[in-house]
Amino acid sequence: MKVIESDFQAWMGGIQARMEAALARLLPASHIASTRLHEAMRYASLEGGKRVRPLLAFGAGEVTQAMPERLEVAAVAVELIHAYSLVHDDLPCMDNDVLRRGKPTVHVEYNEATALLVGDALQSLAFQLLAEHRLADDPRLQLEMVRTLAVAAGSRGMAGGQQIDLESTGAALSLPELEFMHIHKTGALIRAAVRLGADCGQGNADERQRLDRYAKAIGLAFQVVDDVLDHDASTATLGKTAGKDSKQGKATYVAALGLAPARQLADELRAEALAALDGLGGRARRLAQIADFIVLRKF
Ligand code: IPE
Ligand code: IPE
Ligand code: MG
Ligand code: MG
Ligand code: MG
Repeated sequence: MKVIESDFQAWMGGIQARMEAALARLLPASHIASTRLHEAMRYASLEGGKRVRPLLAFGAGEVTQAMPERLEVAAVAVELIHAYSLVHDDLPCMDNDVLRRGKPTVHVEYNEATALLVGDALQSLAFQLLAEHRLADDPRLQLEMVRTLAVAAGSRGMAGGQQIDLESTGAALSLPELEFMHIHKTGALIRAAVRLGADCGQGNADERQRLDRYAKAIGLAFQVVDDVLDHDASTATLGKTAGKDSKQGKATYVAALGLAPARQLADELRAEALAALDGLGGRARRLAQIADFIVLRKF
């Protein structure tokens, strides 16, 4: 089996540390009114998470030679949307989870109403940041970036996928239906992370197309692996309650295909993602390593 290279571990650690600092700086301080909301927003976003979407934004930015200061803001915006989606995903009216990133979920630590508002406010902050920092030389491209994130988070993206997830609980979905759900609830934001990273730099049409093919494949792979890990890993390693999908009757690739074929599919999607990077040369090295990380991870 392929191992994760140590130079990638160092690069990943660097981006994760950079993200922690950037999030800490860009989130409102917890002494500012409304203090409890700000504290809860920081609780939901800081100290935890693999920061896969930021890694993808930075990896794509290497392909298009984007400025790190721009990538940092784009990556924070995507990560804030992701953090918001987790807070709402864990609510009692959705997956009803009590553990996230090794800590009590926001509605457990604070309360449900606060968790709702944390999600609302994280989402607003993401768009505020995209509006107030210069991310592209051409203002029209920057406006397009705002739109990219909005579409990915909305009813044609993550929120829409989450609705299908809830409606499908207890049902057996066909493979195309399952793929549609996963591509939306998880894939859309991952695809946006790659696109926003690329948009911070200068990519030609061919490069952008390859990056998007990569992102589509790895976005689906990410949720397939999440399904596998829910079945296969422990609560302690995941930092979230394991084994919940089958208990709740969630539509997953493990339920639809079984464990080994689901793993096999993730590996095929990894190969597809790597094939899309062919022709981008050494500048796509990080994205290739991230694809390996996404599929081979244990948490
Ligand atoms: C979990 O995402 C939710 C999904 C979209 C599958 P991550 O596995 O990226 O969660 P963190 O950010 O590392 O905690
Ligand atoms: C969540 O999928 C996708 C989101 C948009 C948050 P899951 O419900 O499988 O994520 P986990 O397993 O709770 O992290
Ligand atoms: Mg869910
Ligand atoms: Mg969940
Ligand atoms: Mg899951």
